[in-house]
This record gives sequence, structure tokens and C-alpha cells, in this order.
Amino acid sequence: MITADQLRELERAVGAAALVLDDRRQAYAADELKMPHLPEAVVDATTVEQIQALMRWANRHHVPVTPRGAGTGLSGGALANRGGVVLSMARFNRILEIDPVNRFAVVEPGVINMTLQAAAAAHGLFYPPDPASWESCSLGGNVAEESGGPHCVKYGATRPYVLQIEAVLPSGETVVCGVRTRKGVVGYSLRDLLIGSEGTLAIFTKLVLRLLPKPRRVRTLLALLPDLASAGRLVTTVFRAGLCPSCMEFMDERALDLVRDQLPLALPAACRAVVLLEADGGEEEVEREAELLGGSCLDAGALDVLVADGGEKRERLWEVRRRLSTTTRERFVQKLSEDIAVPLDRLEECLAASRRLGDEAGLTVLAYGHIGDGNLHVNVLSTVPGPAENRRMWLVVGEVFRLAVQLDGTISAEHGVGCWKQSYIGLELSPLSQRLQMDIKRLFDPNNILNPGKIFDWPQREETGL
Ligand code: MLT
Ligand code: ZN
Repeated sequence: MITADQLRELERAVGAAALVLDDRRQAYAADELKMPHLPEAVVDATTVEQIQALMRWANRHHVPVTPRGAGTGLSGGALANRGGVVLSMARFNRILEIDPVNRFAVVEPGVINMTLQAAAAAHGLFYPPDPASWESCSLGGNVAEESGGPHCVKYGATRPYVLQIEAVLPSGETVVCGVRTRKGVVGYSLRDLLIGSEGTLAIFTKLVLRLLPKPRRVRTLLALLPDLASAGRLVTTVFRAGLCPSCMEFMDERALDLVRDQLPLALPAACRAVVLLEADGGEEEVEREAELLGGSCLDAGALDVLVADGGEKRERLWEVRRRLSTTTRERFVQKLSEDIAVPLDRLEECLAASRRLGDEAGLTVLAYGHIGDGNLHVNVLSTVPGPAENRRMWLVVGEVFRLAVQLDGTISAEHGVGCWKQSYIGLELSPLSQRLQMDIKRLFDPNNILNPGKIFDWPQREETGL
């Protein structure tokens, strides 16, 4: 508990205008999983100096500080699950520069992903990482989580687009990691250490992000599949043919059943899964790629391949896909949504086995996701409320994680470990790997005040920092 004296000291350090102690704290309590932890205080920062003062105060009193962007995360990374202060970075929301020659953008971490996409497009440029929540997620959160999205299959996730990070360390000192040049190899890459560190090592205050030329043309195809197995086969067929789709998104029939009436194309009853594919690039190259992609889909057993180019149809398809997580939550009482990935040639096995795990437990397992990356959002769903049902659901999730690792995959490809997957990281990381990583955390944050209780299963002594 933060004492009244400590709060007065914090107010002097960051200024009364930045400190939120009343009911408005509710707005900072949850992320997209809607499992809230009310912070004791919120600092709504507008300057680097306030953040430095906050961290020095937190170190003096061993109070946890949890950085938060737009709160769209799915692993609890921005939750104050050990109490203390939430540091909101939402007002660090300026695009400081778009440099069309060096092809980078300089932004503050609270800028919304789509805002940067639009600003880059005005210069004929393109920022590829596009999480499904791009209309509302912030770039700082994207870098902290190493977020992915549909374009990853061709362009990679967030990491390759981060050139430089300016950050405040848990000590309150500031550091610049990385370079503004396209290449740079001096020293260990602290930048790479900070990317994907889930807000546990530093608080980002400025980001330099690489941009690409905007592809001139995009073609959109929807492959209609007769069953789950052909979805996995489609992926291996496309890659074996040497093709390079810019997006490759999958929905199984349970996901489809939730959105059939919202789709802009009528699907035959025999269609039990779909893969949405795109090709992008120059005019002629795209035509050829789209033709070959269509051919590969048919080779893999597709019933048909529909074209949904440009305009309304394409927009509608993407809107339905991007809202799928929300739609699923609206239709079920409890939802646990995971983000495993497996090698592409194990997809068929993974889809069938995860479905079987749900059936055996009498729970609905529904899958969709970025299938071209082997990344599946396996949702364990129930219409029954309550903690007993929730525990049953977590047992299935644990089995799905075990399955992913057995298939040489990972338990989290996009959303991070946060505070919900900690007890499973031992499935994937050896004790030595975990120990090295915890040692790095201690080096950055000896008092364990920056986002404690995340990623690793810290023993109580570590959580309190004592
Ligand atoms: C998505 O791809 O839709 C997001 O990662 C969220 C999710 O459904 O898990
Ligand atoms: Zn996703």
C-alpha cells in the first residue's frame, strides 16, 4: 500500500495535474482480456522529467510501476497486478518527424498504430506491422510486445522496423539504444533486448521506426476450403511453390459460423474453413503472384477461390477479420485466447489436435489467425460462467501449450507472457535460459519495481524487491 506521505511526495515529484487518485483509475485497470487490477495511483505523464521523477520515487519506496499504452494487450502486461502506480504513456502521442529520404518516422510511444500508417501513406510510405487492433493500439505497446499482425508473413513483426529507442530506465536514467542508420553493429544490441521486454526493462519515450515504400497494388483472394486439414495443406503448398503472399489469414468453421452473415461474399455450405490471401507489389508482379496463389489454393484442395479486390468487399472482409477477437468475446461467456505458433508443416497436426483437446474436455475450441506464420489464435470458449469452468478452460490451454512445444512451436508468438502465461514458460525455456533472463532483469531493475510479476514466475521475495 502506498502511504499518504508517499503520495504527497509523489505529487511533489510529478505535479498534481498528472496524478490520478480518484475513480478515473478504473480506466487504467484492465486490458482487452477484461480481468482488471485497479492501480493505487495513475501518473498521466507528459514529460520525460516526470517519468524520471516517478522512477526515483518508486525506487526510494519500492513501489511497483506498470507502464501502459492504449491498454489493448492480451496477456496482462499493462496490468498493475502487484498494485502500485500505472504510468500512462497515452499523452506521448506526437509524430515528431517523417523522413522520406532516410525512410523512418520519429514518434512518441503513445501514437496509435493506424495514425502512423496514415501519416506514412501521405508520403508514399508504409509501416508494415499491423496488429488486428491497429485502430486503437499504441506503437510503444507494439514495440514492448514485439507485436505481429497479418502483414508479418511477408514483412516480419515489429522488431525489424525498430531502429532506435530512447527510454527511461528503472533507475530514472535515460538511455538511447540503436541507431538512425540502416545498419549499426556497435556493442550488444540493447535495442533488441528492449523490444519484446513487455515493459519490464525500460519505459520508452521516443521511437525511430523504419518505413518502406508503399506497395503500388494489392490483390485479395479468399480460398474456400472443405475442411480444417486443407488449411494446413494450403500453407505448405503455397510456400513449396516459392510464393510470397503479403497476408495469409485463416478462420475455421466455428469462427466462420460467428461471422457468415457479416461477410460480403456468400459462402457455400460445404465451405468449412477459409484462408484470406493477399499479394502486393508492382502492377504486373502482383497479377502474376495472385494467379499463382489462386492455383496453389486449388492444388491444396480449395473448393473455390473468390476475388475480393479493392473497395468495399476487401474492407469489409478485413473489418470482420480484425473484429474476430471481439466478436468471439461477445458470443461466449468465457474466452481464453492464445497465440501459439508451430512450424508450417505441423499446422495440420496442430489444428486437428487442438480441436480434439477441446472436444475431450467438452469445451469449444475455435481457431483463426495468421496461418502463413504458423501462428494460430486457439480460443478456448465456454458459455458457462464461474471460476470452476475457468479452471477447466485453463487445463485445456495448458494442453494446447504442451502441444505447441511438442510440435517444435512456441506458446506465444504475438501477445507475450504477461501475467497469465508465466507458469507455462518452463515448457519452452530451459532453467538456464530463464536464469540468464532474470539476471538481466535484476541488472536493469535491482529493486524489481518496473512491471514486477510479469514474464517470470518471480518468487515472493523478488516480487517485493526486498
Ligand atoms: C488477432 O489477430 O485478431 C489478435 O492477435 C487478437 C486475437 O484474436 O487473439
Ligand atoms: Zn493476432
